[in-house]
Amino acid sequence: MSEAVRNISSDYDLDTPIPTDSNGLRQGLTSYGDAHFSLFLRKVFIKALGYSEDALSRPIIGIVNTYSSFNPCHANVPQLIDAVKRGVQLSGGLAIDFPTISIHESFSSPTSMFLRNLMSMDTEEMIRAQPVDAVVLIGGCDKTTPAQLMGGISANKPIIHLVTGPMMPGSHKGVRIGACTDCRNNWASFRAGNIDVEDISAINDELAPTAGTCGVMGTASTMACILAALGMMPLNGATAPAVSSARLRVAEATGKLAVQASSTKLTPQQILTRDSFLNAITVLQAIGGSTNAVVHLMAIIGRHPEVANTITLDTFDEIGRRTPLLVDLKPSGENYMTDFHNSGGMVALLNELKPLLHLDAKTVSGRTLGEELAATPYVPVPRSSPTNCLHALDNPLYPASSLVVLRGNLCPDGALMKASASKNRKLLRHKGRAVVFANSADLAARIDSVDLQVDADSVLVLQNIGPVGNPGMPESGLIPIPRKLSEQGVLDMLRLSDGRMSGTAGGTIGLHISPESADPDSVFGIVEDGDVIECDIDRGALELHVTDEEIKRRIAIRKSTPGAIGKAAQLHTRGYRGLYMRSVNQAHEGADFDFLTAAGPS
Ligand code: FES
Repeated sequence: MSEAVRNISSDYDLDTPIPTDSNGLRQGLTSYGDAHFSLFLRKVFIKALGYSEDALSRPIIGIVNTYSSFNPCHANVPQLIDAVKRGVQLSGGLAIDFPTISIHESFSSPTSMFLRNLMSMDTEEMIRAQPVDAVVLIGGCDKTTPAQLMGGISANKPIIHLVTGPMMPGSHKGVRIGACTDCRNNWASFRAGNIDVEDISAINDELAPTAGTCGVMGTASTMACILAALGMMPLNGATAPAVSSARLRVAEATGKLAVQASSTKLTPQQILTRDSFLNAITVLQAIGGSTNAVVHLMAIIGRHPEVANTITLDTFDEIGRRTPLLVDLKPSGENYMTDFHNSGGMVALLNELKPLLHLDAKTVSGRTLGEELAATPYVPVPRSSPTNCLHALDNPLYPASSLVVLRGNLCPDGALMKASASKNRKLLRHKGRAVVFANSADLAARIDSVDLQVDADSVLVLQNIGPVGNPGMPESGLIPIPRKLSEQGVLDMLRLSDGRMSGTAGGTIGLHISPESADPDSVFGIVEDGDVIECDIDRGALELHVTDEEIKRRIAIRKSTPGAIGKAAQLHTRGYRGLYMRSVNQAHEGADFDFLTAAGPS
């Protein structure tokens, strides 16, 4: 009797119960009160798609399809699915793709971060609900990969990530440009009157010249590098351009690896340990990665029952103080992701970082990170090559602490600054008077007013853009330089908010201030015009120079002022927005929903 026929016989053997820990099509049966009938019915319907009993007896590899015509970062997903399927079938598996939601930064209102947790729930529940033995998660744009890993850890079936890959850079008047650091630089120049309308229009045509994720070390690239460091994708899978043949070969290899994962049955909760995350944080610091990655990593860690609570913001700071910045990419440096790929990408970086890594951390292949590095071919690019954007450990681009955690009475639960992306390093140790904007609308209304009382030493404060205060915690932390100052040549100021900023942005900018302004006890929420604020990254300090008595007085007044804090809105808002406002935790905890975390309901 052939294997396939043996399977068919057992499917119809009514005297033998179908085990609840079955594989393939027999797992997770729909509830009809008769498991054999559920399996029979499932086979009826899947045969409508033309599958044979032989195909249905193979390990089933789910492929998460996040294609959307609103998502240019995912424009190559159809080709990637084809390549993954080839890899799965070459290894004897059955590949079945299915959709989840797709999120793009510019097509998500109010912000893509508002939808990250929804995407994680979609991913988790579709992995859990469907009969898959392993899943390839195709993502790329900023919030998609963290959402997928959050959902994947919670579902805890074998998963492997495949990112769409970075876009190529464009060119304007002989200068390379790329989304999205150069979107912001050029827009700032246009605002300051240094670029005319013809130029800014031509630049608009060139900033995103191909499919793929932003071509600098923004959040998408950062998360791709972190996934490789975590061992959740092939080590050469982070940097290959979206439109390259190398990207398709990575996809094929990912399909093969997924079939292997379906037999090792290694789940993300088994693969990922505290050491895996320490490696990820080391890589984050060495690449000058996005500040957003800290929020995402805290949310991802918070999903893992064994690792949650073993890593805090202080862990990022401690690792940062001994990790140099080695990758010369915008916004901290000058180059693009294609240059990093041509410099050896993550394989070269991880080899350089070996002394700082936990090489015995597991990877999705079942081998350790050290074993994977030894097994992954890598031809070092000569240090002297002008195209090499990877620095040696003993000759870094920035000595340490590209991302700094700040604490003080203004942010008792922490704040974050990407010190390596400061455009005026004097501002990293600075004391100045606050110019306060109550929210994004207030900022938009007054930032360019000629009457605004502001000078280059002022500290720009933007309140109420935190997780609850402005659901989705928008990337408005890159407060624009007031036009009257930018026209005088001021390029950077100390700017503070409880929101986020794009990973592609730069400047001396304190973010993720926690607790946020919308919290009734937030000190950041009671800062007033003229208050003195001091930032000192050497001490990791962010202080409001106002007496404790005055702080208490202002908080008491605020709490007793009807409508000053949006509690009522949290309780009475309908739908997903209401769920978000009632359930989101603070930035230092990852801005996840409390009921999805490992510490939440079981
Ligand atoms: Fe998708 Fe930048 S907009 S990665």
